[in-house]
Amino acid sequence: MVSADCIASPVMTANRYEQLVQAVVDYAIYMLDPSGHVVSWNAGAERIKGYRADEVIGRHFSLFFTPQDCAEGRPDYLLKQALELGVAQDEGWRVRKDGTQFWALAALDVIRDDLGHIIGLAKVTRDITDRRESALQLDAIRAQLFQAQKLEALGQLTGGLAHDFNNLLTIIMSSAKLALNSQDPARVQRMLEHIVDAGRRGTQLTQQLLTFARHRQMDVTMVAPATVLASTRSLLEHALPSDVELQEHLQPDLPVIEVDAGQLQMVLLNLLFNARDAIGERGAICFALDAVVLTGEVDGLHGPFVCFEVRDTGAGIDPQVLPRIFEPFFTTKPFGKGTGLGLSQAYGFAKQSNGAITVQSTVGKGTCIRLYLPTSERAAAPQLHR
Ligand SMILES: Nc1ncnc2c1ncn2[C@@H]1O[C@H](COP(=O)(O)OP(=O)(O)O)[C@@H](O)[C@H]1O
Ligand SMILES: [Mg+2]
Repeated sequence: MVSADCIASPVMTANRYEQLVQAVVDYAIYMLDPSGHVVSWNAGAERIKGYRADEVIGRHFSLFFTPQDCAEGRPDYLLKQALELGVAQDEGWRVRKDGTQFWALAALDVIRDDLGHIIGLAKVTRDITDRRESALQLDAIRAQLFQAQKLEALGQLTGGLAHDFNNLLTIIMSSAKLALNSQDPARVQRMLEHIVDAGRRGTQLTQQLLTFARHRQMDVTMVAPATVLASTRSLLEHALPSDVELQEHLQPDLPVIEVDAGQLQMVLLNLLFNARDAIGERGAICFALDAVVLTGEVDGLHGPFVCFEVRDTGAGIDPQVLPRIFEPFFTTKPFGKGTGLGLSQAYGFAKQSNGAITVQSTVGKGTCIRLYLPTSERAAAPQLHR
C-alpha cells in the first residue's frame, strides 16, 4: 500500500496510472504494440470483452472484430490510419469472448517515447449498444408518428376527394348519355371532350394523392417551394368548405430548399387544416411564400431562408394554451377531430431541417404560423447546373 501521498517518484506515478486504468470498468483501456498485438489489459476490457488478461495478451486485436470486418481489412485499416495520423476512431460491432456482439465506440491513439518513436497504441473502447438502441427506437417512433400523421392527413383529404370524384363521375355519365342520344356530330364531339377532361382531372387527383401517400420518410432533395405550394393547394382545395377563401401570395424567383418534400407537404397540410378548423364556417386563409434573410431574430438563425406563412382569420389561440401547442398529443379539439400531433411534427421537421417555426395569435382575430427553412447552399453554388 502507498501510505505517503507527497512522495512522488516516476515509479509511483506509473503505479498510480496503472491503478487508475485498472479501476476503470466502463471503458476497455489497453495497449497495443505497433503491429496491433495486445500488451496490456484493464478490468473494463475484461468486463466488456469477456477475456482475462492472460487469455488475450500477445494476441492480435483483430480478435475483437467480426469476421466480415476482418475480411474487409478493417483492423489493419484502423491501425494504419492511427500510425499515419496519430489517431483513429471507429464505431461498429465488436465480438466478445462468448461470441456475442456489442456496438463499440473505439479510439486508437499513438503513444511515442521521449524521442518521438512510436512505442505502441492506446486503445479505448466503450460499449454503447444501449445508446445505439435508444437512438434506433427513437427513429422508429418518429417514423410511426410520421405515419400516423400521414394517415390523419389522408383521412381528411379523402372525404373531400370522394365528393369531387362523385362530381367528375356525374359529368362523365351525363355527358356519355347525352352523346349516345345525340345525332349532332358537333354536340357528340363536345360531350366527348367533357368526358376526356373530367377523366384527366380525376387521374391528376389520384396521382397527387398517391404521390403523397406513397412518399417515404427522409427523402431529402432539392425542392422548389412554389411547386410544393401548388401541389399542397390542389390537394387542400378538396378539403376546404366553400365559404373559406384561400388566398396566395407568392414571391417570384424563390430560391430552392433542401428538404424532404413529402414531409414538408404534410406539415403544410396540417397548418392549413389547423387554420381551417380555427375558422369554422366562414373566413380566409392566406398562404404566403417569401425569401427572407434572418439576422438572429428568429431562434438566433442567420442567413437566407424561405418563409412559408399560413395566416388565418380564425378564433385565435388563448394565451394560456399558446405555450403548449407544440407539445405532442396536445389538442383542444374533441376526440376524433384532433390528435395533437400536427404542430409537434411541424416543430420537429423545422428543427431537423435547421429551420424554425413561429406563431403569433390574437384571440378573435386569427393566427399566423411561419415556417422558416434554409435555402440550399448547394443550389447557390455557381458551378451547379440544373
Ligand atoms: N391556426 C390555429 N388557430 C387556432 N388554434 C390553433 C391553430 N393551430 C393550432 N392550434 C391549436 O393548437 C393545438 C395543437 O395543434 P396540432 O398539433 O395541429 O393538433 P390538432 O390539430 O390535432 O389538435 C390545436 O388543438 C389548437 O388548439
Ligand atoms: Mg392539427
